[in-house]
Amino acid sequence: MSVITTQAVDALIADLERDRGPGASVLEAGCGRFKHFAYPDTMRIAGLDISSDQLKRNTYAHEKFLGDVQTYESVRQFDVVVSIFVLEHLNDPQAALANMLAWTKPGGLLILAVPNVLSVKGLVTKFTPFWFHHLAYKIIYRSEYSIFPTTMKFCIAPKALKRFFAGHEIVHQEYGEENLARPFNYLYRGLMGAMQVLSLGFWHPERSNYQLVIRKSD
Ligand SMILES: C[S@@+](CC[C@H](N)C(=O)[O-])C[C@H]1O[C@@H](n2cnc3c(N)ncnc32)[C@H](O)[C@@H]1O
Repeated sequence: MSVITTQAVDALIADLERDRGPGASVLEAGCGRFKHFAYPDTMRIAGLDISSDQLKRNTYAHEKFLGDVQTYESVRQFDVVVSIFVLEHLNDPQAALANMLAWTKPGGLLILAVPNVLSVKGLVTKFTPFWFHHLAYKIIYRSEYSIFPTTMKFCIAPKALKRFFAGHEIVHQEYGEENLARPFNYLYRGLMGAMQVLSLGFWHPERSNYQLVIRKSD
């Protein structure tokens, strides 16, 4: 299973909190139940999720909203909007992106993490059925992590996301790689290396996750 790294993003959030002072606000869109970032204690965290069960199990959000990130109507804006591994589950990721941008205050941060649809993992996920994802998580990752049906649209590919946010500042971006259970990991790494060489270095099939942080223009 691949995890996103958080140190660089934690530092950006801490800087923003210093600038904006106590009470700076965060909205996690598709919050689920796991907190990824070290929000300073003074920040107020809101969580939006389509699943009441996920919201119930979330213990860190100060405020919770039940709704669909693609259609939710909110006139409030937040200093930081976060969406980690949510866009790949949506039928209309661009509607969600437009909403999240609208919910971000000028100068605020929008933090996204998605699987890279153009990686081997992304393409396999896109073109295989949901029962296969279940099986893969059990056998290859040895994980019981609850999984959700994916749509994995090409409009969430890294370049497409950057195009969507043209005009806003990219303050951080990075790729993450998979860490499979042994012995699959050795085989997987060998295959990724071979594909990279065969593509003459043009394709990075091992870059399975992508994290992007933008600062919204004024
Ligand atoms: C893979 S989980 C990620 C949860 C959390 N962000 C994390 O990283 O642990 C996807 C989450 O998105 C939520 N979700 C899926 N579709 C949604 C939608 N249309 N609107 C809001 N939340 C949605 C799911 O209920 C689930 O909590």
